[in-house]
Amino acid sequence: MLTKISSVQFPFSDNDICAIKEAAAIIQNGGLVAFPTETVYGLGADGTKPMAAEKIYAAKGRPSDNPLILHIAFPEEASVYAETSKLYYTLAQAFMPGPITIIMPAKTIVPKHVTAGLSTVAIRCPSHPIAHRLILEAKTAIAAPSANLSGSPSPTCAKYVIDDMQGRIDMILDGGNSEIGLESTIVKIVDEKHLILLRPGAITVEQLALYAHVTIAKSVTGELQKGEVAESPGMKYRHYAPKSQFVLLEGNLSAQYAYIATHQDNASVICYTEQCQHYMQLLGENHVFDIGAEHDTATHCSRLFTLLRTADQPETQTIYASLPEKDGLGLALYNRMIRAAAHCIIKLKDN
Ligand code: TXA
Ligand code: MG
Repeated sequence: MLTKISSVQFPFSDNDICAIKEAAAIIQNGGLVAFPTETVYGLGADGTKPMAAEKIYAAKGRPSDNPLILHIAFPEEASVYAETSKLYYTLAQAFMPGPITIIMPAKTIVPKHVTAGLSTVAIRCPSHPIAHRLILEAKTAIAAPSANLSGSPSPTCAKYVIDDMQGRIDMILDGGNSEIGLESTIVKIVDEKHLILLRPGAITVEQLALYAHVTIAKSVTGELQKGEVAESPGMKYRHYAPKSQFVLLEGNLSAQYAYIATHQDNASVICYTEQCQHYMQLLGENHVFDIGAEHDTATHCSRLFTLLRTADQPETQTIYASLPEKDGLGLALYNRMIRAAAHCIIKLKDN
């Protein structure tokens, strides 16, 4: 299959609108289009056509029990696909359009291929202008997982979509780098006062707690035991993992440095800007990857998935990084990092 790649910028020119309309027509005809969102790139198909949604699983190599998110242009459209409630509209008012996905009971219009047979459906209203316009032009809800091959990091720019998806999908809309760089926050509405956080993202627990009591699903910070059922099917899969071993270090920065100094063979490090010089002397320039200034968590989030790809060089056996804090935006980073590391965390005694 030939994959067409079109660059699109906001504010839109006539050419940009043409490209988005072409992408929308592909979706209406049951094809697959990768498109930018404010979180990561999505791989979209018509969310009301079972055969179209099924193609997504084939293109990604995604297990068929892992449901898809339905992307809508306006929060009110959720009622076409889900049993909405007052709490949904409260959350929508506060956070939509934006990086949040809300899980509610599904209506029968939603194909089983989207829900993977669950009784619930995930709804998201993205704020990215290209995503918004594409959904509007397609005149349907767009089912879209992240546009990576199953298991690899979600793509934060068109290049990574091309690496994973060229030849497997019809079109890629290149809208530059993703602003947030980690996927949306996912919450499930339990009742009018309770939410379960299934996946942390840019909308934090602290923000959600202003509107409801939030329980954090166990899989967000811990490893599921054998036989334990994940609230969100996607959480049980190894994810974002580089081919090299990714190891997280817990302890103060000088203890981490001392540890890496004694384990430097074929090692690379993802570290804070302030430490780069120090590590370059130890490991050489090509083995040090800057995740941003120490307290700039938003930048850490926006760089993580790119670094997991670029640090993953053939000669590298181990990639080390600091285990982040779990508060605010840090929880999203923590969750992605422990999963990429398959929970490999080394606790060090502080120096
Ligand atoms: O930011 C995002 O959410 C991106 C962009 C493209 O919108 N999308 C994304 O989709 O990350 P995906 O498919 O990579 O992750 C969706 C997650 C999966 O872990 C899936 O198991 C979970 O959402 N999910 C979807 N529907 C669900 C449901 N009804 N109940 C529980 N979990 C659900
Ligand atoms: Mg994904």
